[in-house]
Amino acid sequence: MADVTVREATVHDCEEIMRLIKELAVHHNEADKVAIDEHVLRRDGFGDTPYFHCLVAEPSTQGTGQQRPLVGYAMYYWTYSPWCGKTCCLEDLFVTKDWRNHGVGTLLWAHVTKTALARECAWVHWVVMDWNQQARDFYHGNGATNWSEKDGRLVYRMTHGTMTTFVNKRLPETA
Ligand SMILES: CC(C)(COP(=O)(O)OP(=O)(O)OC[C@H]1O[C@@H](n2cnc3c(N)ncnc32)[C@H](O)[C@@H]1OP(=O)(O)O)[C@@H](O)C(=O)NCCC(=O)NCCS
Repeated sequence: MADVTVREATVHDCEEIMRLIKELAVHHNEADKVAIDEHVLRRDGFGDTPYFHCLVAEPSTQGTGQQRPLVGYAMYYWTYSPWCGKTCCLEDLFVTKDWRNHGVGTLLWAHVTKTALARECAWVHWVVMDWNQQARDFYHGNGATNWSEKDGRLVYRMTHGTMTTFVNKRLPETA
């Protein structure tokens, strides 16, 4: 097991978290899709209405002071099921390449799961790319189920342009 500490992110971690978010985007071959920066993270995660929570993994023995390089993060937020009540969405789980296969990902995931249990969440859900077999195996290995396969639910999304077109068309009086 790697010598890391998992803790809640603070506003001072945003630059490091942003670096890891970009690494994950590169892993997905979608580096050009990252449209925010650490200022947005600070505002959205640590303002009056936090839109996400984040746990970070910090090596116990690397770096000095407050600026230790982070080696992983788990971003999550609370969601709600009209049938089952409180639920949790794990948006991102990432461990930087050199630190993989030493238990860091499991540790971050376990901490999010523990927090969700403490909040009495009925489940934790997340999306994984179909080609990401390594991550899929990792999740399966710890008891997670591919819910799309089991339940036939598809993930839908409307992006900004489509949202605007839809609202302008269906609520023209408010445009
Ligand atoms: C998926 C990911 C988060 C896993 O993180 P990780 O730190 O490598 O995960 P762990 O080390 O806890 O577990 C990985 C494997 O190492 C093994 N392992 C755990 N502790 C270990 C240790 N102390 N020593 C050696 N191996 C260990 C685990 O058994 C696991 O094997 P398994 O997948 O066959 O069960 C990481 O690979 C990653 O960031 N990948 C790229 C981004 C990504 O795909 N994220 C998920 C998007 S949905």
